[in-house]
Formats: sequence, C-alpha cells, structure tokens
Amino acid sequence: MPSPLQNAVARLDQLGLVSDSPSYLVRSFLSPANRQAAEQILEWMASLGMEISHTADGTVRGILAGSNPTAPPLLLGSHIDTVIDAGKFDGPLGIITALAALETLQQENTTLPFPVHILAFSDEEGTRFQTTYLGSRGVIGALDSATLATRDAGGNTVAAAIEDQGWYEESTSIRYTKGECRGYLEVHIEQGRVLEAAGEAACVVSAIAGQSRLTVTLTGRADHAGTTPMPLRRDALAGAAECILAGETLAKSKPPLVITVGKIQIHPGASNSVPQSATFTIDLRHPEDVAREQDLDDLHQTCLHIAEKRSLALDWQPIQDNPSTRCDPALTASLLASLTSITGSQRTLASGAGHDGVILSKICPIAMLFIRCRDGLSHHPDEYATPEDINTGIQILTHFLKSLIPADMSK
Ligand code: GLV
Ligand code: MN
Ligand code: MN
Repeated sequence: MPSPLQNAVARLDQLGLVSDSPSYLVRSFLSPANRQAAEQILEWMASLGMEISHTADGTVRGILAGSNPTAPPLLLGSHIDTVIDAGKFDGPLGIITALAALETLQQENTTLPFPVHILAFSDEEGTRFQTTYLGSRGVIGALDSATLATRDAGGNTVAAAIEDQGWYEESTSIRYTKGECRGYLEVHIEQGRVLEAAGEAACVVSAIAGQSRLTVTLTGRADHAGTTPMPLRRDALAGAAECILAGETLAKSKPPLVITVGKIQIHPGASNSVPQSATFTIDLRHPEDVAREQDLDDLHQTCLHIAEKRSLALDWQPIQDNPSTRCDPALTASLLASLTSITGSQRTLASGAGHDGVILSKICPIAMLFIRCRDGLSHHPDEYATPEDINTGIQILTHFLKSLIPADMSK
C-alpha cells in the first residue's frame, strides 16, 4: 500500500496534468479543468471516509467528523485554481498535505475529538476575473454585487459565469459564520527564497501582505501608422508604457512595495494602427496598509498626469483591496511548537503572496505553514518542492493536529 507521502506526491503529479490548455498548466474559475480537479479531489476525500459536498461555484469540501461531530471544526485546505502556465504546487499542496495528514492519523488509529473539514477553493488566483478569493469569499457569505458584476476577458460577469457554467448537480451551500470554527490552517510553498537560503524545510507564517488590484484603461485615438506625425498622436499604448514604467520606478524606490502589470490588452491591436486604447492590470502590494494606500494614490496621480500630458482619458477601476492580515497568535504558536518539534526551527516569515487565510481570518483564527520551494520559484512551471520537504510538512501538520487533542483524551 502506498504511504501517505507517496500518495501525496502522486496526487500532486496527477493534478498537475489536469489543465485547460494542452501546452501548459492552467485552471481557472469554473473551467472544465477546475471541475475535473475538484471531482478528483472529492474522490480522494471520499476514499478517506469523508462526507463530501461541493458548491455551485466549484469549491469542494470533505468532512471527517471525528469522535465529537458537534465540536467546532478545524478547517484545512487551499485552492484548486492556478495562474496561467503554472506550477503544480501552488494551491494543491495545501489540499494534498491535509489529506495526507488525515491518512497518517487513520493509519495510526488516531481519531480527533473534533471534525476536520478539508476545503479546496475554486478560485484564489483571480486568473479569470482579476478578482481574487472567489472560492473562499463564497464560503463566508454571498459575493457582493460589485464582485458579481466583474467581467472576464470575454465580457461575462461573475454572476453570469456561475449561472451558466456553475456546477449545480448535487451542489449545496458551504457557509461558515464567525466563531463557528476553531481555525483555518493552510500549508503552502513559500514562493520565496528565505527557506532555501537558510537551509530549512519549513516555517510558520506571521502575516499576509495586503494587496490592491486594479484595471486601468487609457483611451486615445486610433490613427494611421504611416501618415500620422508623432506630435499629433494620442497613442494609448505609449501612455500605458509610461505609466507602467512610472509604477516600476516607484516600487524600486520604496521597498518592500511591489507593483506588477501582468496583463495588457490593446485595441485595435494592428501593427499599422496607432493604439486607441490600452487596458492593463495593476497588482500593488505592501505589508503596511497605510503605505499601500499612499503608494497607490501616488501612482494614480502620476498616471493622471501622464494621461493629461498625452491627451488621453484615464479610467482607474479598483477591483479589490485586501488589508494586510496577521495570523492568529495562539494557533500560530501551536503550529510553531509542531514546527520546532519536527525540524528544530523556530522561524516565522511574512507572506508577500496572498492566501485564502486573508478571507477566512474574517470568521476564525488562521495559521499557515510554508514549505521550501526550489529557487523560490512560483507562478512558473518549474515550481518544485522535494518529497522530503513535503513529508516534513505532512509530519508537522500531523503533529499539530495531534497537539489539539486534550491531554486527558490522548492515548
Ligand atoms: C496568489 O498567488 C497571489 O498572491 O497573487
Ligand atoms: Mn496559492
Ligand atoms: Mn498563486
């Protein structure tokens, strides 16, 4: 029989092949591959004896009741969706290690005195709608009207996507209210270089940096590329280029501020037409909320100035603002004790990347465990964590789960 680690590694490989593209790994909100991955995860949950369910918007859940099914549940998990041309660890690692930890406990005949819910969220990356955390937001309450009205590249709103492409067969609502759960814990690759440099397999997360996402459109005038003198042009793409470089310059001058433009669309998009419009995304992050808001405002003013100078119209559309989120001190201390017990390390690290814990923190305490990843690389097909480090993560999670058993109940 394969060990929990062997299962985990094989499952990560298997999910890494479930893609909407034949050329690279991508799974996005309500896409066929996201659904296929979700169905596969439900099968694995069921094979552990979990009670399984899914929502219409594609989030799946397995419940292991434990010896006291009415006790507040502990939530474990991560997201199923990926960025475009992704690696196979960002997201699935948190789901697969949760399954492996429960499998380990079952093999040891350990029953937890509280339910464990494993959640696999349908959207965390925001690849389709540029708006993040659709899956986890859906389990703490209904999506707000602004989110439901957000459009993908094809012009479909989130509401229409759920209505038309939702997974309605046997779907249920999965909802948690404040105070109902004992906590949410997620295992994730570090997506940075600190653990590798330190020669350590894992660490505990102290906080998750805040982030703002926007869509910006500059509009000028399409014109003939051969006959329009340079001073008469209102070139939207040249304006966008200036704004993008202004963002890069601002971020370089103010670490730890980071600004990314990851997507741009031009209309009409022909080599012999002056671009009439350029629409691009901005992702701006800073660990301090006040600094993030101030830097975003500075960038907005700079872009307004660039637009005015070039006779372009600027449409500045905030999509999402997530504040910096601290992990829960008590849950984090328990996780740190498990980290120390398994690895000897006491390292904590702030996360520059966003995670579903940002949303779950609104209803329960959160904690996170980071696993070393090769070269700190993530959002890239070469993303990699060794089986040894994954095993360390499973051991820490298993130790943590057992540490929640009251002393007078443990065998
Ligand atoms: C998720 O990976 C994010 O931080 O954007
Ligand atoms: Mn992730
Ligand atoms: Mn990611």
